[in-house]
Amino acid sequence: MLNPVKVGILGLGTVGGGTVHVLQRNAEEIARRAGRGIVVTHACAKELNKTHPYSTDKMMLTAQLTDVVNNPEVEIIVELLGGTTIARDMTLQAIANGKHVVTANKALIAKHGNEIFAAAQEKGVMVAFEAAVGGGIPIIKAVREGLAGNKIEWIAGIINGTSNFILTEMRDKGSDFADVLAQAQRLGYAEKYPTFDIEGVDAAHKLTILASLAFGIPLQFDKVYMEGITKISPIDVQYADELGYIIKHLGITKRTDNGIELRVHPTLVPNKRLLANVDGVMNAVLVQADALGQSLYYGAGAGALPTGSAIVADLVDITRTLTTDPGNRVPHLAFQANALVDLPILSIEETETLYYLRMSALDKLGVLAHVTNILSENGISIEAIIQKEPVSGTDHVSVVMLTHCVKEKRVNKAIQAIEKLDGITGQVIRIRVEMLEG
Ligand code: HSE
Repeated sequence: MLNPVKVGILGLGTVGGGTVHVLQRNAEEIARRAGRGIVVTHACAKELNKTHPYSTDKMMLTAQLTDVVNNPEVEIIVELLGGTTIARDMTLQAIANGKHVVTANKALIAKHGNEIFAAAQEKGVMVAFEAAVGGGIPIIKAVREGLAGNKIEWIAGIINGTSNFILTEMRDKGSDFADVLAQAQRLGYAEKYPTFDIEGVDAAHKLTILASLAFGIPLQFDKVYMEGITKISPIDVQYADELGYIIKHLGITKRTDNGIELRVHPTLVPNKRLLANVDGVMNAVLVQADALGQSLYYGAGAGALPTGSAIVADLVDITRTLTTDPGNRVPHLAFQANALVDLPILSIEETETLYYLRMSALDKLGVLAHVTNILSENGISIEAIIQKEPVSGTDHVSVVMLTHCVKEKRVNKAIQAIEKLDGITGQVIRIRVEMLEG
């Protein structure tokens, strides 16, 4: 067998430790698969005095990133720094030094992937990023390789574990949003800046990557429509339940005749769908493809060993193809770099879906008729309508509606008109609905 491949890790935190752990505990099996051993010989850690549980005498520890990135012995760099500034610099430097790169950094790929892949292509090196989407779930491999014979129609995924955990707790225990967020942070699921989780930024990073792999388009993070879960109230969770739906935070990308939909937002999903029953911190991605139909990929979206599992899979892939002609490797974004197409990304106003609308209406003859008139004037057809008992001590009732499929701009226009009605108090709450049918 050839000598082991030498790997340098930038960042020995939770994921770095998990990666070294997986490489050590499964060393024999990994070597049998890769055809050579894979060992971490160099690692950059912030605190050198701290005990790093999986470091060995054979691993050179340093506090300087460049000690690893510029070391001629190291063949593959694993970038686990997070952020998009130093991580970008180090990734580009590693590529310039002719090293292959594995990263778990979804923000880096979503924002700078086009530049990074172009540099890697020129240098004939690989940049692998399985851990960037869905943690340990091999979703990149599935979409890029397993579904290579299909035309992908749409993808809908629960790709932020923290948001899913919060929504699950709100539904199951009627808990308050802030309490559950604090719990998620204590359990270590949330990002360093929890706004990335709860405002949809983390999911948008991951969706950007999935859309490029599915449709062969450049990475376009700045065009993702982003809405988080901070405005979801327990009453909507309850009404959705009564209508037979569960609220999930989804990343959705869809090919339409007019362009690509790219959106992240809370979504009502029929409670019988498998995706609706993915609970807690778990992730799942549903792919609709023309030949296969629907396929669902479920698993741990975060954590030391699951993320380590994805990183090690990338290391094995790279090791197997080290001597391959770069032109014969799997392209970074599934499609050959010169075959990417610039399909238009649709604005949220141009997307079409179903809607859940909730409003507070004066319990008086004619109010509902005005509301339904406005909807009909805007071409919005109602599928279901529920009027709740008056809220005690007030003369207002909650009215909840489900619409048929309609363009978002029509719904926006209708909502503006409804909010101006004398008999309607406050804002109309709007949550998109997806049936997730084939
Ligand atoms: N904060 C992320 C999540 C971790 O909650 O899913 C993995 O990207």
